Amino acid sequence: MKHILAIDFGTSNSTVGYPFESGPALLPVEGEELTIPSAIFFNTEEERVQFGREAITAYTEHYEGRLLRALKSVLGHGLINEKTQVGDQQIAFKDIITLFLRHLKLVAEARLGHNVDHVMLGRPVWFVDNDTQRDREAQDQLAAIARACGFSEVAFQYEPIAAALDYESRVSGEELALIADLGGGTSDISIVRVSPANHGKIDRRSDVLANSGVHIGGTDYDKRLSLDQVMPHLGFKTALRDDATRELPASVYFDLATWHRIALLNGNSAATFLKEMHYSAAQPALVHRLMRVVREQTGHQLAGDVEAAKIALSDSERTLIDLPYVDATLRIALDRPSFEQATAGETRKIADSIGECLLQAGVKANAITTIFITGGTSAIPSVRKACIQKVPNAVLVEGSRFGSVGLGLSIHAGILARAA
Ligand SMILES: Nc1ncnc2c1ncn2[C@@H]1O[C@H](COP(=O)(O)OP(=O)(O)OP(=O)(O)O)[C@@H](O)[C@H]1O
Ligand SMILES: [Mg+2]
Repeated sequence: MKHILAIDFGTSNSTVGYPFESGPALLPVEGEELTIPSAIFFNTEEERVQFGREAITAYTEHYEGRLLRALKSVLGHGLINEKTQVGDQQIAFKDIITLFLRHLKLVAEARLGHNVDHVMLGRPVWFVDNDTQRDREAQDQLAAIARACGFSEVAFQYEPIAAALDYESRVSGEELALIADLGGGTSDISIVRVSPANHGKIDRRSDVLANSGVHIGGTDYDKRLSLDQVMPHLGFKTALRDDATRELPASVYFDLATWHRIALLNGNSAATFLKEMHYSAAQPALVHRLMRVVREQTGHQLAGDVEAAKIALSDSERTLIDLPYVDATLRIALDRPSFEQATAGETRKIADSIGECLLQAGVKANAITTIFITGGTSAIPSVRKACIQKVPNAVLVEGSRFGSVGLGLSIHAGILARAA
């Protein structure tokens, strides 16, 4: 039997699974944890590279170095081949992703006690929305990265199909299921005929009625919330000193609110640009806060606090963000209605993607018997509601929020390994 590792390389979190004789399972990837944040910290103070929670902790404890997160978002975009300054070196984004995936491979092999040369990687339905060529390039880039990690054979499976396989392992009869994997970077939808009778088959093309997806995920909700409620306190959308009809340039605020671009805000050119902004601002005290965040490299901490507030709003109607490292007195009150309003466009696009999937599949919304949702963003109440409304007759089933895709990839890896 072939050895195939199943890797769900996620925008926010990753998992590694393996098809054991006893059945597919996720492997502990950080201590005993079955998930690892897709984060990497180049600790220049201790001259080492750290991954996952350990990377985030080292950054939070103010070790000198550079934190990078959400790097999956770079696949299929020009940034993949660009280099970023780390200590006194320049490292290309693709090489940083390689370090992360190689780390997952090594950790998994240490757990298994043997090498694994083949990999089954999850992929979103679209890495780059509706652009077949760039989407292909993104997959090729990820395949090249996997080969650079030492995998000799690389296969891909759509993330929502993987989630469907996880769901299928627990159904007792045939169902027409809409599977929604709402993650950190993308929302991916499939309509699949699931049935225990077909569970182990390799070729399921006739059971997959349609796939669709949008490049919208939890990181976009963070970005919207940040731009709408937080960045204005750092000068975003405030006027120029000499011309009240014009606003300060927005690019720095966009970078600071976008997980995979935060690390780009450093160095002399950013400092010069910010000085000019400060000079030309009608409210320089606000830009002073922005300068402090960039100078003290607290951009990821800020994004993390915005994300934590977003998560809090899934369970409560209101929350507070304390930002003493931006300004001693800065405390922002947030409420769910404003969050929902700020992110209404994102939520609509996710719901539209479900509509598109139904259309492609040629099935009426009423014919869907189950909606299976997974992924961190499926916890947002407005997103859940928008998805459920699209399929009024369906029963809602929730997968393991962070594990379904990885488990499904392991199931698929097992089917392929047995067939080889
Ligand atoms: N309770 C919650 N409420 C709202 N959002 C949440 C909650 N828990 C996690 N999230 C968000 O879910 C996202 C991560 O989800 P997940 O781990 O499924 O994504 P991923 O697999 O890394 O990304 P992708 O599949 O898109 O590449 C993050 O944006 C995180 O903030
Ligand atoms: Mg995912």
